[in-house]
Amino acid sequence: MPGLTGLVVAITGAGQGIGRGLAQAFAAQGARLVLSDIDGPAAEATAAALRAADAEAMALRVDVRNADEAAAQVATAVRHFGRLDVMLCNAGIMQLKPLLELDAADWDRMLGVNVTGSFLTLQAAARQMLSQSPLAEGRPRGKVIQIASIAGRPGAAAIASVIAPYRASKAAVISLTQSAAITLAPHITVNAICPGLVDTDMWRAMDRDWTALQGLPQGEAWRQRVAGVPMGRPQTPQDVAGLALFLASPAADYMTGQSINIDGGLMMS
Ligand SMILES: NC(=O)c1ccc[n+]([C@@H]2O[C@H](COP(=O)([O-])OP(=O)(O)OC[C@H]3O[C@@H](n4cnc5c(N)ncnc54)[C@H](O)[C@@H]3O)[C@@H](O)[C@H]2O)c1
Repeated sequence: MPGLTGLVVAITGAGQGIGRGLAQAFAAQGARLVLSDIDGPAAEATAAALRAADAEAMALRVDVRNADEAAAQVATAVRHFGRLDVMLCNAGIMQLKPLLELDAADWDRMLGVNVTGSFLTLQAAARQMLSQSPLAEGRPRGKVIQIASIAGRPGAAAIASVIAPYRASKAAVISLTQSAAITLAPHITVNAICPGLVDTDMWRAMDRDWTALQGLPQGEAWRQRVAGVPMGRPQTPQDVAGLALFLASPAADYMTGQSINIDGGLMMS
């Protein structure tokens, strides 16, 4: 993917799963990375593995719910690399629980990480990007990429009854993407990626909780969902990263406010 070498890219939730896959993909393109996670040692492990492969990567502990910590990630990028070109708001949580059993704490926890966290990360990045020069003449000053989900799209399958706060949180991220894109154009592009069924710890926990609820053998919820994917296999973090690389590249400079499904054809629109 041309145009990514030397870009300064920050990624939240980079200690495992999709965030770690994004870090590996951007490192392979020669980007310089500032990786964060609420699990500081996990973020550092991702960064250390990339440094061992000759990438420039540093790590810090960030809880995206905390505005000061979100700002610290941006400040770290500026202190070490002089600017921040791409902010990937990836950190997120999931909870599987029937709608009528949810309480306010469940709801607040989900929206706190997935919505407030994405907002604070985006806002901290945008403040820096507006103050810096464009990536090149005629190009944006920076780019924000949100990791939303097809769960944030309208329409409800059976699973909707047990992931209501998650679905609401991801719909909010799609909405935030549009508000931020219109606010920050033409200086910063803001787009969202909507993955489908990605093989990470998040889905392993969902399978465990969903099969327990339904009295099914462990692994069965995952197997049934994967069987419905037109592309015939689960998604990998690298599948998500391919779209992120495109959105970060000059080829996507004219794209903003979009939320793009990449889900093996699970949801077609
Ligand atoms: N796995 C999927 O099928 C799937 C599908 C669509 C969207 N997504 C989204 O992709 C993103 C990454 O998911 P994943 O599958 O890699 O999950 P994961 O659970 O494997 O990784 C999430 C990471 O976020 C970190 N994190 C959690 N709370 C945090 C906080 N408050 N501050 C900072 N970091 C925090 C965790 O420590 C972890 O490293 C999430 O936003 C998720 O909603 C996942």
